Amino acid sequence: MRLSTKLTFLISSILFFGQLSATDRVFTPKGMQWAEAPSGHVAGKDNGELSDEAEADETAGNEFHMTGEDCGICHSETGKAHESVFTMAGTLYKDRAAREPLVGAEIILEDVQGNVISMTTNDSGNFFTYSKIASDPQAWNPDKSEAENRASSSTWRYKAWVKNDDLITAMMTIPGVGGSSSTTSRMSCGMHHAPLNSRGALLASGFSTLSSYPETGVSFKKHVMPVLKNRCKSCHLPEKARPWVEYPKGTKYAYGGGLDLSAFEKDENSEKGIQDIVNLNNPDASLVLATPMYGSQHGGGASWRSTDDADYKAIRQWIAEGAKNN
Ligand code: HEC
Ligand code: HEC
Repeated sequence: MRLSTKLTFLISSILFFGQLSATDRVFTPKGMQWAEAPSGHVAGKDNGELSDEAEADETAGNEFHMTGEDCGICHSETGKAHESVFTMAGTLYKDRAAREPLVGAEIILEDVQGNVISMTTNDSGNFFTYSKIASDPQAWNPDKSEAENRASSSTWRYKAWVKNDDLITAMMTIPGVGGSSSTTSRMSCGMHHAPLNSRGALLASGFSTLSSYPETGVSFKKHVMPVLKNRCKSCHLPEKARPWVEYPKGTKYAYGGGLDLSAFEKDENSEKGIQDIVNLNNPDASLVLATPMYGSQHGGGASWRSTDDADYKAIRQWIAEGAKNN
């Protein structure tokens, strides 16, 4: 070995062993709650490319269509669009009601082997990729062959982040995503992020929910609840809605942190509710405001860029007025 080769080997060994493996960094109980998003890659490096057929035929399906839908229904081995089977796809919106697409935001995945996949949203808010997501032997079905397990999207293990400018929201790792109950693998964010009146993975926009609120007489029902519903409730669900997952087997992990923000009165089995995270003497020190602040290590990421956010100010005023159920 030449000296320079030896040196390169030494340096890369140090770099390699000095870093946490993906399993330690992300796929631990702590990492599943809060883990810094991968950086240093080119945003959008894994964006899917259109086939020549799709480029040529304007009447065919394309990258701007079916916004907010569960792409995997058609884009799977047995679906209508079996020529283009994505490993991940979806749509981002600016708001929970899915009125406006969020253009140019980034979706980052880190798989169980530490591979980073990055996609950016196009003009309709859509994103899709064909890049491989590593499968996790811990999730393999013992009745299937290794090859079948590897090919099954229900064994693909990843953590996801959505990044809009400098605001980042992490997805709490949910095991077994990807059509485990169906016979064919399919994968798209719309599979789960499509509750009743909302579509897509919506929480990362960083736009205020309230366009205005009164200077005094802020109402819980009219002003505070819409913010909690829009920006917090997807994780902070009542205990009876079982906001937890099990991974690895035997480790129960609560992605709502035991905090129910779905109503003024908390679910009787939840540890805390909105009334437990307000500080009437010092509204700004209230956990409801301080925990999701930009720069904190909150499992749900940052909701407020600063204390100037309209939603932040409305909640602060509501607390200053006694945090009533009005
Ligand atoms: C109702 C079925 C259906 C749904 C849902 C659907 N698509 Fe499609 N899509 C099609 C069909 C059919 C085609 C054209 C045939 C093909 O490309 O396989 C197509 C083509 C495409 C293409 C062009 C593929 C190529 O050939 O390069 C892209 C990109 C695409 N869709 C993205 C998406 C995204 C992103 C979503 C989810 C937000 C989605 N589609 C949801 C049916 C669907
Ligand atoms: C993507 C999921 C997610 C979203 C969305 C989310 N959170 Fe959280 N939150 C968590 C998790 C997980 C924990 C527990 C771990 C931690 O403290 O980070 C938590 C903890 C908290 C705590 C600390 C609870 C305690 O016991 O002290 C507060 C306060 C909180 N969140 C407030 C909010 C508010 C307010 C919003 C909306 C503006 C919000 N969260 C949105 C996942 C989320």
